[in-house]
Amino acid sequence: MTRLFEDTSIKGMKLRNRIVRSATWEGMCDSDGRPTQKLIRCYEDLARGGVGLIISGYTFVRPDGKGMPGKMGIHTDDFEKDFKQLTRGVHAAGGTIAIQLVHAGGQTVAQNAGRQPLAPSSIKVDQFPEVPAELSIDDIQDIVGAFGAGARRAKAWGFDAVQLHGAHGFLINQFLSPLTNRRVDDYGGGIENRSRFLLEVYRLVRETVGENYPVLIKLSAADNMDGGLEIADAIYAARELARAGIDAIEVSTGTPASGDKAPAREKINAPEKEAYNLGPALDIKEEVNCPVMVVGGFRSCEVIETTLKGNDISYISMSRPFIREPGLVNRWLQGDRKPARCISCNGCFKPGLEEGGIFCVVEKKEQEKAVKSSPFPGY
Ligand SMILES: Cc1cc2nc3c(=O)[nH]c(=O)nc-3n(C[C@H](O)[C@H](O)[C@H](O)COP(=O)(O)O)c2cc1C
Ligand code: SF4
Repeated sequence: MTRLFEDTSIKGMKLRNRIVRSATWEGMCDSDGRPTQKLIRCYEDLARGGVGLIISGYTFVRPDGKGMPGKMGIHTDDFEKDFKQLTRGVHAAGGTIAIQLVHAGGQTVAQNAGRQPLAPSSIKVDQFPEVPAELSIDDIQDIVGAFGAGARRAKAWGFDAVQLHGAHGFLINQFLSPLTNRRVDDYGGGIENRSRFLLEVYRLVRETVGENYPVLIKLSAADNMDGGLEIADAIYAARELARAGIDAIEVSTGTPASGDKAPAREKINAPEKEAYNLGPALDIKEEVNCPVMVVGGFRSCEVIETTLKGNDISYISMSRPFIREPGLVNRWLQGDRKPARCISCNGCFKPGLEEGGIFCVVEKKEQEKAVKSSPFPGY
């Protein structure tokens, strides 16, 4: 038995292996953020497929933090029944699930947020057409409260853990980054101030869920852009979180504006292109004593096993491979160790925006081709 398939636990949350489904927006919710039956089936498939820990798609804690259509929302008590069905379904299928909590900050548009987007400073970010309004102190405090309320609901509704989304240019990352945070009050300036919002969110979430419930974070180690967040500041934030009791840090890098260094890089077609955030993840691990997860381009068992050798990295996260193959972990466990079939083309975003939910467009094309070339098309 390799380290990959070991049983482990994080703060009492039992995990059947060291593979994490990194948070992945599915675009399958109603327009108000209510989970649909299609989304629930998608999580049950992941659970049946053997993933150790499923992290949900990013879930907004206040309606103006909604970043994309079809995104989940945990801003209201009205969705209790739906979320309980979701977590029960995952547990019945043998899975474990954390919810990723987010406010999109300036990385949204009024059509999704229901108002002019809000951000630490009134600075437009690349890839998003609208100039956001600067958050007032009252709004900052209200959003901190919304993270707390989201975590309270998540725990009560059966999620096994919460993960704060502190990566990819969303609100927590926007506070951390000197590119998007030009505030001159207590929330801007040096990293001690730029990390204040994150630490306030963490502390309230921790106070809300208690000491014995896992609180994780996905943290950008760098924006991969001139003038953006750099590793030294990310290490500061990671160290403060570890000191305050965070249970695991999942390391990523980049924002949608980082070009070929964005979070979901393309053309991962050779082992040396895999594990592209491993360097910064190890830098962070050197400074913290909590488990570190790393995401970004993992496709083959060999690279995963090598990354897990030694005890520095505790968990490997993947997103796109599970869109194409929800059963990937079981396939590997049963002895078929061929790499993930995902070719990292990012074609799956489009149906999320246009067809009511993400799916692997490459897989679909291949299936259609197979049917056409079959002597009995339709069978
Ligand atoms: C369709 C899609 C949706 C994503 N949604 C999220 C999300 O909701 N939250 C998040 O932290 N990252 C999100 N990501 C980024 C992934 O979690 C991951 O960090 C990135 O794709 C790199 O990992 P991979 O190479 O295994 O895909 C998304 C990626 C894709 C392709
Ligand atoms: S469309 Fe399919 S092959 Fe392309 S990135 Fe998405 S899951 Fe991978």
